[in-house]
Amino acid sequence: MSRTVYLNGEYLPEAEAKVSIFDRGFVMGDGVYEVTSVLDGKILEFPGHSARLQRSLNELEMKCPVTMPELLAIHHELVKVNNIDEGLVYLQITRGNPGDRDFAYPDDNVEPTIVLFTQAKPGLAADPKAKKGIKVISIPDLRWHRRDIKTVQLLYPSMAKMAAKKAGVDDAWFVEDGKVTEGSSNNAYIVKNGQIITRELSHDILHGITRASVLKMAAEAQMEVVERAFTIEEAQNADEAFYTSASSFVMPVVEIDGKALKDGKPGPIAARLREIYLEESKKTAV
Ligand code: PDD
Repeated sequence: MSRTVYLNGEYLPEAEAKVSIFDRGFVMGDGVYEVTSVLDGKILEFPGHSARLQRSLNELEMKCPVTMPELLAIHHELVKVNNIDEGLVYLQITRGNPGDRDFAYPDDNVEPTIVLFTQAKPGLAADPKAKKGIKVISIPDLRWHRRDIKTVQLLYPSMAKMAAKKAGVDDAWFVEDGKVTEGSSNNAYIVKNGQIITRELSHDILHGITRASVLKMAAEAQMEVVERAFTIEEAQNADEAFYTSASSFVMPVVEIDGKALKDGKPGPIAARLREIYLEESKKTAV
């Protein structure tokens, strides 16, 4: 069955949704995106994702072609027509089609391009990987220095995922100046002596929406949170490690660069945080 997608005000069969070859998203990587998860047919964390979208657009002086209530209505319509119970909604806004290639931003009269599509992921919440834990390798962080803006420039993260695949593991964590920045598409954490440790917010990492909620929920559950950077060696010797993202929620990490953490099984804090996160975020889903 063909998916229905959203493009610039229209709901279309996916094969009919076409974007210009001059679109700046295509020729310049000049666009931003969000990925929001859907559980029980409802959107998780919409206020967080829409606020971050507006921040990314502002940082790039890009217009938003829709209001936030309109954006939510588009999410709802796509979830409904595509019958999504568990899955993701992908949203991308680019600086649009100036009609030719030029490095300078086009005039204000060029309208942004907005695209949304759904991805069905049955079993997303009950992902068996969350029970087994996943393995990561570390690689140098060679991305640009505004990682707080969620741009569509995902070539290096794609290279990182391929390096992980070739190494026979699930993902890669980026390292800069000896410290972990974040995962290729997630925020990274370790647990040591009951403390949950994750890098502080800056331009070095994406300000994860799941991260913000998980840290708040951890504090509410009387867990101690410390926001500071950590090394790979520290992570390998930690009691637990995990990562967070909209598409994986809280995911335990059991091996880093070939070294198993403790007994190589997911730890209790990651498991508890996943449980709390799923429970609480479903309550505020819309
Ligand atoms: N990635 N860091 C990076 C580099 C990311 O790409 C992501 C999300 C995160 C986690 O952010 P959030 O909790 O808001 O999803 C951190 C999405 C899921 C993706 O690119 O598919």
